[in-house]
Amino acid sequence: MLAKPIIIDCDPGADDAIALFLALAFPEQLNVLGITTVAGNVPLSLTQKNARCLCELVSKADVPVYAGCPRPLLRPLMTAEEVHGKTGLDGIHLPEPQMPLQTQHAVDFLIETLLRSTDKITLATLGPLTNIAIALIKEPAICQQMQEIVMMGGAVTQGNITPSAEFNLYVDPHAAHVVVTAGVPLTIMSLDVTHQAIATPERLSAIRAINSPVSAATLGLLDHYGAYEMQRHGFLGPPLHDPCVIAYLLQPDLFTSRRAYVAIETTSELTMGRTVVDRGHVTNQPPNANIAETIDADGFYQLLTRAIAKFT
Ligand code: BDR
Ligand code: CA
Repeated sequence: MLAKPIIIDCDPGADDAIALFLALAFPEQLNVLGITTVAGNVPLSLTQKNARCLCELVSKADVPVYAGCPRPLLRPLMTAEEVHGKTGLDGIHLPEPQMPLQTQHAVDFLIETLLRSTDKITLATLGPLTNIAIALIKEPAICQQMQEIVMMGGAVTQGNITPSAEFNLYVDPHAAHVVVTAGVPLTIMSLDVTHQAIATPERLSAIRAINSPVSAATLGLLDHYGAYEMQRHGFLGPPLHDPCVIAYLLQPDLFTSRRAYVAIETTSELTMGRTVVDRGHVTNQPPNANIAETIDADGFYQLLTRAIAKFT
């Protein structure tokens, strides 16, 4: 079977970093055409640099990295240094990247690559959706070239940045609105599923046993990011949000999901960025998304362990 062509849009970020490891470990399954970066967890100057450091760590300096939008469409940028640290990758020290940042803007890379491709391309989005929204506005014809957008974002029940909203969609709710109304096949990994993917000490022991630079980096990132998530949310370990997107592309049978109509709140300050999911079909709107609901967390950590073991 041919590898699925994907573009990863991200804001690394500890869990973005681990998602990149997972995506880059299985080139026979995922053909990563490029990594586009956006402002989110930390400013763009750091997310684009972090993406390059991470590619070099896993010896994938041939994957092109692009910088995209430095701020959300309308709202001021809100970052998450309290979760990911000042660098975005606190807990590890990586050398300055040697691989260049591509000169093309991420939005233009997305448009050009999608329009030029003879195969449909999947977008894996791990951060605020600013780049994807701008690309959709600038060149609506890219919709037909997208196989699917698989996004980490939203909360069907409890948010993590406000009671209503999840961080990625809260940071750029207007971009999220553009994306969910674009008519592109969409799968959503909300907090309700990613909070099931908890990195407990038992699940991490197999990664610890690999004892390589990439396993050490994974554990270093999780030590830092885990401390915050455990203290704040009372988890037994940090939830690996963004890697759920990649796991879904690699092994969809790890998940159960349902189709539903989803809309994004962009007006009320109180519930800004909320993913309003019509599970009860009260709107009579046709479903526009596939909402992941459960994950086989042990199977997910086995997949992640196999991925990390590829980089020795
Ligand atoms: C999401 O927000 C970011 O902090 C994480 O990288 C993830 O994409 C979780 O709410
Ligand atoms: Ca992220």
